[in-house]
Amino acid sequence: MRENPDYNDIYYQNTTIHSQIIDIIAERGVPLCEFPGPINWETFFGNPHPVEIEIGSGKGRFLLEASKRHPAVNYIGIERAQKYVALTQERFEKYMRHFGVDRASGMFSNVRLVWTDANYFLTRYVPNGSIQAYHIYFPDPWPKKRQRKRRIFRNQDFLSALTRTLNIEDGRLYITTDYAEYFQEIQERLAGLSTLHPIESGLGPDRDIATNFEMKYVLEGRDIYRAVYERFSPQHT
Ligand SMILES: C[S@@+](CC[C@H](N)C(=O)[O-])C[C@H]1O[C@@H](n2cnc3c(N)ncnc32)[C@H](O)[C@@H]1O
Repeated sequence: MRENPDYNDIYYQNTTIHSQIIDIIAERGVPLCEFPGPINWETFFGNPHPVEIEIGSGKGRFLLEASKRHPAVNYIGIERAQKYVALTQERFEKYMRHFGVDRASGMFSNVRLVWTDANYFLTRYVPNGSIQAYHIYFPDPWPKKRQRKRRIFRNQDFLSALTRTLNIEDGRLYITTDYAEYFQEIQERLAGLSTLHPIESGLGPDRDIATNFEMKYVLEGRDIYRAVYERFSPQHT
């Protein structure tokens, strides 16, 4: 049965008003509504580099470390909470001030922050097969039973958009959570998709970059669960 969380309607109403793509270096936000539809990444970034998206980028720790480490990868962080969008901008500003980064140097020109709902962004603005990797770290577990329908991995539109937009040759999905029961559910739901398969090894080149939630939970001694999925190549689908 199709589960279509009603909470999306609420977020959509709010997000469509303020949704924007923020260029942290240029200190400029462009309303999403100025984009007529799927965004051509090569034109948008001005280069043909692969594009990776972090969903729910929180305070932006992964986004900053990964974009610094891989200047030839374009990163997009999607975050719907204004507070975290502002904190991410601050994090980059602080870093640039502290290390005397010249805005004209090109550093961080490979990052954009999208203040909106991830499902909204993926379904409307991300072209087919255009994403090399998705990073979803500590997705909200909505632990209360009556709220579980809000889990992003229960949203069929989101799952379709995720698999539709991954590079069909070898696009990857990286997931980390501290919530064992949700981890189990995510694995079961993804096992039901013919488009993705789990990769046993190779947790990725950025496995060592801890997000803010990971740092907090590791300090608390919680178990951390990780999975990596790869898009099946076309002959399998
Ligand atoms: C538990 S926090 C994890 C933040 C970060 N990934 C980390 O590990 O530190 C989940 C984040 O996802 C964001 N989020 C949840 N659902 C989202 C959605 N549909 N679109 C965009 N952001 C979302 C929340 O606002 C929150 O910042």
